[in-house]
Amino acid sequence: MELSPNALTPEETYKLLIGGITPRPIAWVSSVSLDGKVNLAPFSFFTVASANPPMLCFNPMFNSEKMPKDTLRNIQEQKEFVIHSVSYDDLEAMNKTCHNVDADVDEFEYAEIEKVASSCVTPPRIKNAVVAYECKLNRIVDLGEGALSGHLVIGEVCAIHVADDAISNYRIDADKLDSIGRMAGSDYSLTRERTTLSRD
Ligand SMILES: Cc1cc2nc3c(=O)[nH]c(=O)nc-3n(C[C@H](O)[C@H](O)[C@H](O)COP(=O)(O)O)c2cc1C
Repeated sequence: MELSPNALTPEETYKLLIGGITPRPIAWVSSVSLDGKVNLAPFSFFTVASANPPMLCFNPMFNSEKMPKDTLRNIQEQKEFVIHSVSYDDLEAMNKTCHNVDADVDEFEYAEIEKVASSCVTPPRIKNAVVAYECKLNRIVDLGEGALSGHLVIGEVCAIHVADDAISNYRIDADKLDSIGRMAGSDYSLTRERTTLSRD
């Protein structure tokens, strides 16, 4: 079957993207507004943008009212954020932080997640995250203005935090991280079953 995005609604095209690009890693992003309101939310349109300089990117889409989400607005204002990897143990707390709550609700408190001060950015980070990347905004690439339009946020990493027992010789222990991926809808994948292919 061949489908043309031009003949589909944005919602139909969205389903074809999230169903075929799986599993997606999840950026759990903390940010803060200029008047100090803290925010935490998950985003699975997420990847490494560059290793040198170290840059990460994720994509907070406009919502169905064509309005920016709190995370995007905070980063437009404050130009800093922290990206945490999501472990299986975080699944339920992470899910709570995607609820559509008022901008003045601190999702750390709402989802009962402990926060600590970051080192080089203003937004706090999750104390028990296995891995966290503090980022300063490099640029936002606006890819449209409609509902579900992309707003690619690219940040340069200024500090990396790894749980002491999850790192050895700069290698992060995949079992300790126990990361999860986003499938379509409400499904998630685990990373506990892996395969190894040695290079010739
Ligand atoms: C696992 C997961 C991944 C998500 N990925 C995205 C995404 O890539 N882009 C997006 O705009 N929303 C995504 N969402 C929805 C946002 O998390 C949700 O709209 C959230 O309320 C935004 O919070 P904010 O308004 O506080 O920024 C995702 C939700 C979940 C649970």
